[in-house]
Amino acid sequence: MQPLHEPLARERGVQLSVARLDLIDAGVPGNKWFKLYPNIDLARRQGCRRIVSFGGSWSNHIHALAEAGRRFDFETVGVIRGYAELPLTATLADAKRWGMQLEFVGPAEYRLKTDPGWLSALRRRYAPCMVIPEGGSNAAAVAACGLIMPTLEADGYRPTSAVLACGTGATLAGILRGPGQLDKVLGVSVLKGDREIYDRVRMHAAGRIDAGPSWHIDSEHHYGGYARTDGELLGFIEGFYQRHGIALEPVYTGKMMAALYHRLERGWFARGERVVALHSGGLQGLRGFSGKWPWARERLDRGERPG
Ligand SMILES: Cc1ncc(COP(=O)(O)O)c(C=O)c1O
Repeated sequence: MQPLHEPLARERGVQLSVARLDLIDAGVPGNKWFKLYPNIDLARRQGCRRIVSFGGSWSNHIHALAEAGRRFDFETVGVIRGYAELPLTATLADAKRWGMQLEFVGPAEYRLKTDPGWLSALRRRYAPCMVIPEGGSNAAAVAACGLIMPTLEADGYRPTSAVLACGTGATLAGILRGPGQLDKVLGVSVLKGDREIYDRVRMHAAGRIDAGPSWHIDSEHHYGGYARTDGELLGFIEGFYQRHGIALEPVYTGKMMAALYHRLERGWFARGERVVALHSGGLQGLRGFSGKWPWARERLDRGERPG
């Protein structure tokens, strides 16, 4: 837990901290640790030595899965939305080096990733294997994300509110249905116009969130959509780093923190709230911005990037 000494928070009477889940593990950081660990365990118990999953060419999930495969000695296959003819991104180059087999599919085929018939064919092709969905977001992952807050609380910290980035919504669902003492949770959607996020969170939580904290989705900080960014967001990330020495990236954690700050400004958090921002990792993806964004280049040159 890293306290944030921020004049705005002091003015508002709010205690701010960042849970540095990004530091849990250099190769399998952030929410990936919670999502992958139970899946690897499940695969092992089923005697399955190959895991197949999906992602884009800068996917944090694919990167972490490949590293986990190398470290824990199982085969990995990444079904990648992209084209084999294009040069590999830094993410995919790592994944390949760590032994992941990459299979590229175009955008239309990638959309079939939840289609039962298509999945059966995939399973047959790589049998015996375990297939886990995009972002690693299955029931085992949701259950393990339920351990995030109790882990922080076991260290003696008692937040009243949590803020986190939402893609599939599985991490949020886990926190909502897991044990813990939160009053309120804010999920910041990184996708534009994602009206299904509420349904996805409920689906992942499998009906077990009604007794939990109140929860809200912020849909105003997508900055143009998934992996889109603008000068305001990049400036915010740089300023945040200057003040606190914590690197964020523009796809998930930068948007999450920007939403938190805007809501703090607007008085959305009441006096006396103890707010924890979950740093869910994703810093390997900074490499995707280094060409266009000098700040990312500098951080990477200083070796501030997990591998
Ligand atoms: C760094 C990071 N933060 C947050 C998320 C969002 O998590 P979820 O898909 O469980 O909503 C992801 C995607 O999995 C991610 O890679």
